[in-house]
Amino acid sequence: MDQIVNVNEFQELAKKALPKMYYDFYSGGAEDQHTLKENEEAFRRIMFRPRVLVDVSKIDMSTKILGYPISAPIMIAPTANHQLAHPEGETATAKAAAASNTIMIVSYMASCTIEEVASICNAVRFLQIYVYKRREVTAQMVKRAEKAGFKAIVLTVDVPRLGRREADIKNKMISPKLRNFEGLFSTEVRPSEGSGVEAFASRALDASLNWKDIEWLRSITKLPILVKGILTREDALKAVEAGVEGIVVSNHGARQLDYSPATITVLEEIVHVVGGRIPVLFDGGVRRGTDVFKALALGAQAVLIGRPIVFGLAANGEDGVRKVIDMLKNEFEITMALSGCPTINDITRSHVRTPDERL
Ligand code: FNR
Repeated sequence: MDQIVNVNEFQELAKKALPKMYYDFYSGGAEDQHTLKENEEAFRRIMFRPRVLVDVSKIDMSTKILGYPISAPIMIAPTANHQLAHPEGETATAKAAAASNTIMIVSYMASCTIEEVASICNAVRFLQIYVYKRREVTAQMVKRAEKAGFKAIVLTVDVPRLGRREADIKNKMISPKLRNFEGLFSTEVRPSEGSGVEAFASRALDASLNWKDIEWLRSITKLPILVKGILTREDALKAVEAGVEGIVVSNHGARQLDYSPATITVLEEIVHVVGGRIPVLFDGGVRRGTDVFKALALGAQAVLIGRPIVFGLAANGEDGVRKVIDMLKNEFEITMALSGCPTINDITRSHVRTPDERL
């Protein structure tokens, strides 16, 4: 751990620590994995326009999301099954979130129950949900989240079907038991061939989910609702019209529709139509503090980190996750200083240059 100097190096440690089936599940994307590569590559095509002779003797990375203060605009994305990475699962991740003073979005497909996560963690938590064909199961989970002190519901909308993740198909990846659904139905599906995750998803997920269902979700909860999985200005507008409290620009870490665009390339068009009416969060391919800065310069309020968090967890539990967040924060702080931005509000569109722009 001491030898590690950047977040990417955690991936190698995770590869050594995990059984191949689980490493493939965490690291993989859909089909040709073109979007998976692009999510990171597209960041590399954005350059800085740094300003000098600005007083950067004090850097303040703090910000607020839905009114909740966090130490830096770096949050934890919802990722499934943390106990495949570490026996403590989501409780370790939650402790790291609390220690880092950031927000954790707990996955609907978490290995630990949401009550366990709540009992261990005084960090602000949001609950990510899918909508199941048996709507009462989802409704019950939303109620439990309210009771357990979760502060928002993040509705993931890019999984009407599961993307074809070929490594999982080859490995016959089994969808593990999820205790959140104990007594309701088994998530542990073992098909005779192919991926158990896919088999479970097609059995459980409601592919009829549509924009009208935001009203249904609104009718069962008073919590703010964020919609995760927006990639176009058209859908961003629909989300605003549906009255949600925020959106997450995301292609699900390139695990769903291959050849969907790298998220950083569509962020600006979405920010433009949203026009500041609701917060725009961002994820996909964030591996450096410079990436965090670029996403903020293009209008995101904060970024969510997916794979590096689970790689940190696999490598060294809570401490691994803390180190991942610390490294990103340190890099981000240096980037702010070297760009001439002492506070988050100082980061503007004019601090970056996208490939289509001429000077
Ligand atoms: C995910 N993601 C995800 N999203 C979601 O809404 N619910 C979920 O249960 C999961 N599960 C999940 C598992 C694993 C192993 C990965 C890698 C991703 C998507 C996640 O929230 C996020 O959108 C991406 O991971 C962001 O991209 P990076 O940071 O992994 O590049």
